[in-house]
Amino acid sequence: MAEGRDRKDGSEPLDIEDPGGKLGVLLPGLGAVSTTFIAGVESIRRGLKKPIGSLTQMNTIRLGKRTEQRAPLIKDFVPLAELEDLEFGAWDPIPDNALESVQGSGVLDRYDVEQVSDFLSSIEPMPAVFDKKYVKKLDGSNVKQGETKRDLAEALREDIRNFREEKGCDRLVMIWCGSTEVHLGQHEVHSTVDKFERGMEENHEKIAPSMLYAWAALKEGVPFANGAPNLTQDVPALTQLARSKNIPIAGKDFKTGQTLLKTIIAPGLKARMLGLEGWFSTNILGNRDGEVLDDPDSFKTKEESKLGVLDYILQPDMYPDLYEGHEHKVRINYYPPRGDNKEGWDNLDIFGWMGYPMQIKIDFLCRDSILAAPIVLDLALFLDLARRADMGGIQEWLSFYFKSPQVKEGLYPEHDIFIQHWKLKNTLRWMRGEDQITHLGTEYYGGYS
Ligand SMILES: NC(=O)c1ccc[n+]([C@@H]2O[C@H](COP(=O)([O-])OP(=O)(O)OC[C@H]3O[C@@H](n4cnc5c(N)ncnc54)[C@H](O)[C@@H]3O)[C@@H](O)[C@H]2O)c1
Repeated sequence: MAEGRDRKDGSEPLDIEDPGGKLGVLLPGLGAVSTTFIAGVESIRRGLKKPIGSLTQMNTIRLGKRTEQRAPLIKDFVPLAELEDLEFGAWDPIPDNALESVQGSGVLDRYDVEQVSDFLSSIEPMPAVFDKKYVKKLDGSNVKQGETKRDLAEALREDIRNFREEKGCDRLVMIWCGSTEVHLGQHEVHSTVDKFERGMEENHEKIAPSMLYAWAALKEGVPFANGAPNLTQDVPALTQLARSKNIPIAGKDFKTGQTLLKTIIAPGLKARMLGLEGWFSTNILGNRDGEVLDDPDSFKTKEESKLGVLDYILQPDMYPDLYEGHEHKVRINYYPPRGDNKEGWDNLDIFGWMGYPMQIKIDFLCRDSILAAPIVLDLALFLDLARRADMGGIQEWLSFYFKSPQVKEGLYPEHDIFIQHWKLKNTLRWMRGEDQITHLGTEYYGGYS
């Protein structure tokens, strides 16, 4: 363990390796989110766009007392890879290159795509580990063949090594941007690394393709984050593997759209001790993600991820008068004319003083992939930072980016976006040996005795 790593009080900075050289970002899934992310990074690199929505690129971080006036950009405070040094690789069962995929997804307008089309057309997906059993609404021809799941996962490892070599990458990260797989519960085969590896050899049906990518990444020393609600890396076998190899992992399900708003609004209602009788959320969307979620098994995976947030934020057990028994319903409707431009409606039945009812209506004309792309960027850069800081295992400080934050068994996840944001920044301060910000502020008034 490097010097300073063991400190208890946060007063000494961690030893963080320099981010020199290239960082490869490996993306299982070259669909709407991945291509919006890649097109955006390239547009920023060419000076055409600003990195809006990205904390690593735009957010500042306050250090010390308010009177010290120290608030550098996060990217000047912690050593992050430069956008210029990013290389992209992807797998997809659909053989379209990134240009064809971006055109098909309809997220970006033609002019923006044209500006980076040469770059996008150079990114071809590698053959995927894909099985229709896990994503029923999808067919693809760009698929690896292998006798066992172990063989397929070994082929992914070889892809990772080849990519690293061909692109001259010093470091890699992998972010699952593939479709939502059917719902899988935890099973004995996920309980230890040995059982999981035996399960791969026996083609165990509870081992989904996304798990093979996560396993391959961890075996190759590559940090892994999961942008979909699938279990994937959130099983004991893979968290143990991440821990034993000291590789950062994070998940699950990018927090965009309706859930983003939910985790902004619910903490505010609770802060004011306003009651909630019910929250009904419905969406229409017409992209490929929407089509995949039209399958009830994939929707179940998503629904579980979306439903969790309110209970954790509102804590009905602690505030039964305000939140016990509140209704929470979430619907996703596949409606092709809308494409990637989702519309999400929320109806909140709340109550206040003397129990008087009130309503809040939200109509969010949302662009999912536009909200997701900067999350992919931040996760890539922060996972790489964590790796260089020798911070292996579950990265709970990245909960900010997820609908179902992965936490250690026995801990409940934190969903309140403001607490998540604070935790993220305090972790960065801790890494650099800066004081935590408590917002107490009595020192400005000479203290109280
Ligand atoms: N768009 C958002 O804001 C958002 C928010 C939260 C989560 N997500 C999740 O992120 C994922 C990507 O979303 P999207 O809008 O880009 O979807 P998309 O359908 O446009 O892209 C997903 C891609 O993954 C590919 N794929 C499926 N199985 C694969 C496998 N085994 N290996 C490699 N590739 C595979 C598909 O062929 C497709 O091209 C989905 O799981 C979605 O639920 C998206």
